[in-house]
Amino acid sequence: MEQMLDTMLSARERIPVAVHEEPLDVSRAVAQEIADLIRTRKQQGRHCVLGLATGSTPTGVYAELVRLHREEGLSFQNVVTFNLDEYYPMDAEAEQSYRRFMDDHLFDHVDIPAEQIHMPDGTTPLDEVAASCVAYEDAIRKAGGLDFQLLGIGRTGHVGFNEPGSGRHSVTRLITLDNVTRTDAAGDFFGKNNVPRRAITMGVATILGARRVVLMALGEGKAPVVAHAVEGNISDVIAASFLQEHANAQVILDRAAADRLTRYTCPWVLGPVTWEDRLIRKAVIWLAQCVDKPILKLTDEDYNENHLQDLLAEYGSAYEINLHVFHDLNSTITGWPGGKPAYRKLPGDRKWPGDDIHPKRVLVFSPHPDDDVISMGGCLMRLAEQGHEVHVAYQVSGALAVFDEDAERFLEFASSYNELFDIAPDVSGEIRQRMARFMAEKRPGQQDSGELQLIKREIRRGEARAAGKHCGIPVDRLHFQDLPFYDTGTVRKNPLSEDDIDITMRLLEQMRPHMIFAAGDLSDPHGTHRVCLTAIFESLRRLAPKDWYEDCVVWLYRGAWQEWEPERIDMSVPLSPGELERKRMAIFKHESQKDKAMFPGSDSREFWERAEDRNRATARLFDRLGLAEYEAVEAFVRWRGTTTSL
Ligand code: F6R
Repeated sequence: MEQMLDTMLSARERIPVAVHEEPLDVSRAVAQEIADLIRTRKQQGRHCVLGLATGSTPTGVYAELVRLHREEGLSFQNVVTFNLDEYYPMDAEAEQSYRRFMDDHLFDHVDIPAEQIHMPDGTTPLDEVAASCVAYEDAIRKAGGLDFQLLGIGRTGHVGFNEPGSGRHSVTRLITLDNVTRTDAAGDFFGKNNVPRRAITMGVATILGARRVVLMALGEGKAPVVAHAVEGNISDVIAASFLQEHANAQVILDRAAADRLTRYTCPWVLGPVTWEDRLIRKAVIWLAQCVDKPILKLTDEDYNENHLQDLLAEYGSAYEINLHVFHDLNSTITGWPGGKPAYRKLPGDRKWPGDDIHPKRVLVFSPHPDDDVISMGGCLMRLAEQGHEVHVAYQVSGALAVFDEDAERFLEFASSYNELFDIAPDVSGEIRQRMARFMAEKRPGQQDSGELQLIKREIRRGEARAAGKHCGIPVDRLHFQDLPFYDTGTVRKNPLSEDDIDITMRLLEQMRPHMIFAAGDLSDPHGTHRVCLTAIFESLRRLAPKDWYEDCVVWLYRGAWQEWEPERIDMSVPLSPGELERKRMAIFKHESQKDKAMFPGSDSREFWERAEDRNRATARLFDRLGLAEYEAVEAFVRWRGTTTSL
């Protein structure tokens, strides 16, 4: 069976693909392969020549290699490295330089001899760049060629910085960065205008010259481009598609990044599948969209003519399948996310988990101070209105996402306030001047001074309080956790620590919630949501033996960047036009975040627009499937707490 599946997949997947459930498993698998190669070469008395990548994707690989070095004696004495790329111009010491990245993540922690490290040099004078690129290619050749090339993939399909238009025969050169790439990097540089326009990168031919190429991708944000590279035609529009020509290339993905491959989007077109409930729902929604009909109007012919004969055969008739999926989806809809009070219950009502507890203690975890309202503002207001005790825990301060000019405005206000009421004007003026001087001299991307970080944190707290008030949540139910992993003052965060977990566990113990909401939205630009979610999952895992946890139901929301796939939705909370407008007003309270949604996406929609578009799209989908027609719908998935995955 496995072999059969492989043969069928190769019709669609043109590069061998390995999928691991978790990002960590991907990093470990890649690191293990690299470590094995280093050891084999050592036994052969040879150097191991590695082509290395930067970016958020390979950080886990480097962390694992460092661990192998420290704990299992993996030596890098025989390793020679060539990095793929560097921004141009770029000072090696700059916070955003790839040189600094490599030192921070790998080179400073292992025993690699300095002279065996090679990176394109972002400080090369412009008229010497071309010659330095030729020298770089020569150095790779002289080292015996690349044994192993590690790659990430950009949303433009770039590998290295081979942006669309990079040909099969391109070699190391200076390249102009694509607008999407610069937009994606804007967060790291505190604004797109600070992102260099050019970079030096190995070419497609340089990469394909490696004896082994491994491209890794993590997260749902990469899923569309991965599918293009793996299943689409080879073309210079997606440089990664050239890997299809390499005899020893492999793509290693976590489940989220693999999600748009045919084997997951519509596996039934590839061959027989096991029909479990979620897959049936997925197939029926897919079919309804393919033939543009509501579920209850799908016919036997529709199933037969669109690769779903097996499903039809199993159920006997379209009528049966249609009814099953229709009711299944319909029963996810509720205007009472916390359950109904006894006096409102009707005999035919669906039984929800924890139904008999009313009112409930609800704890909403919001990674940044605005994710709660962006992602589940409608549900939040309903919960408060329906009499539940709603608390919101803001996991990180979000100070990093406040512009200096906003901080300046608040500082000015604070000093006029002090002057107005004669509150120690000298002291306040002095503090303000110090901060103004700091901001004036600050380099792009430089870490904020401690006091400026505090001001920015306060700005976001104030906004969260205003939004909470708007949603009917009293200030004393807002908890600002300031998890320490985030507070580095720079874009790069610390790994999750016991302190983060302690803080989370303490709040959970104190609250003993009946209902928890957490952000399962993992596509945020700097990975903060992922870490915040891990803190919650790990805390819950440790608290699972407690009595109160038995009655606790955990829901995951998504919002700012992505919506749940419809087949995964367990609870759908409809919003009226009025509620949608109130939600928008709550998002507006986060004034400092205006314009911030533009950074990671190529479009220029604001957070409130993204949230509304997505909530409306879910409502439209329900309508097209023949369910009730709502203005907007917020969707939730229940976490059953068996793994740390979603
Ligand atoms: C970095 C590089 C790029 C990245 C790509 C993905 O050396 O060459 O191709 O691999 O931009 O970046 P992340 O991993 O940050 O999504």
